[in-house]
Amino acid sequence: MSGKARIGIIGGAGWLGGSIAEAILRSGLTDPDNLTLSYRRSRPDRFAASHWTTDNQFLADRSDVVIFSVRPEDWGSVPVNLERKLVISVMAGVRISALMEKHASERVVRALPNAAAEVSFSFTPWMASASVDADDRILVRKIFGACGVEDEVNSEADIDYLTGMSGTGPAFPALLAAAMMKHAITQGLPAEVAQRAVLTMLIGTGRLLERHKDSPTEIVNRFLEYRGVTAAGIEEMRASGFDDAVSRGLAAAFKKSVSMGGTS
Ligand SMILES: NC(=O)c1ccc[n+]([C@@H]2O[C@H](COP(=O)([O-])OP(=O)(O)OC[C@H]3O[C@@H](n4cnc5c(N)ncnc54)[C@H](OP(=O)(O)O)[C@@H]3O)[C@@H](O)[C@H]2O)c1
Repeated sequence: MSGKARIGIIGGAGWLGGSIAEAILRSGLTDPDNLTLSYRRSRPDRFAASHWTTDNQFLADRSDVVIFSVRPEDWGSVPVNLERKLVISVMAGVRISALMEKHASERVVRALPNAAAEVSFSFTPWMASASVDADDRILVRKIFGACGVEDEVNSEADIDYLTGMSGTGPAFPALLAAAMMKHAITQGLPAEVAQRAVLTMLIGTGRLLERHKDSPTEIVNRFLEYRGVTAAGIEEMRASGFDDAVSRGLAAAFKKSVSMGGTS
């Protein structure tokens, strides 16, 4: 593939499809004229210089790469022929074999970004079918590199697992932050101060982890060794079942992810 990639996004009006479109345009991987997006009900105002359509076969015909970003339950009713196209699905639970069969394509990639693609900070695991060649792989890395950090994994089971873990994006850290805010408010802290405190702490945590490259376990252990206020909190949270609650939550998310897309 030479020059700018011709990319189509089925479901480009949606949350993730729109975020991917924004990221790849910002990165210069394609230009607006080579980007086609489809919508179902109402045409969005964004990406005015690109091509919008409700006809997914038209989108496919003017693209070399087609990204599928509709909800898994809608995928079954999108009968589009993608022969000789590189097909990239970001749909939870939909298997590579099912995509190959339904869309008559041998070159299929299954990927699982998260909502932080909107700020180019998604973690995206992906896996490719046997016919996806080296040039295709470079392009896949560029697309998801534009959305954040990408990682090729060895099995679809890894993608199913990560769907419930990293695919949930900000949800679990936000759950912790919400529980902390709730407690702070019951202790009489003004809600806006509690919110500023937890949000700043979340962002600061990310930046510190990125800078020091320590594993989360190393950081927790350092606080435990310090034997101060934080250690008291960590020990009580653990004694109250924190690790077990997280394990059970991730197991439930994993189970849900394998049951999606009508593929198991
Ligand atoms: N959002 C995330 O954080 C996230 C993370 C990982 C994976 N995913 C996966 O990404 C996919 C999209 O998720 P999302 O959150 O972006 O959902 P979403 O906001 O609901 O977007 C899906 C879009 O697909 C459109 N659509 C449905 N049928 C269509 C058709 N036949 N032709 C063209 N467009 C059609 C919908 O249009 P209407 O609005 O008109 O129905 C909607 O705009 C899902 O499969 C999900 O599993 C999402």
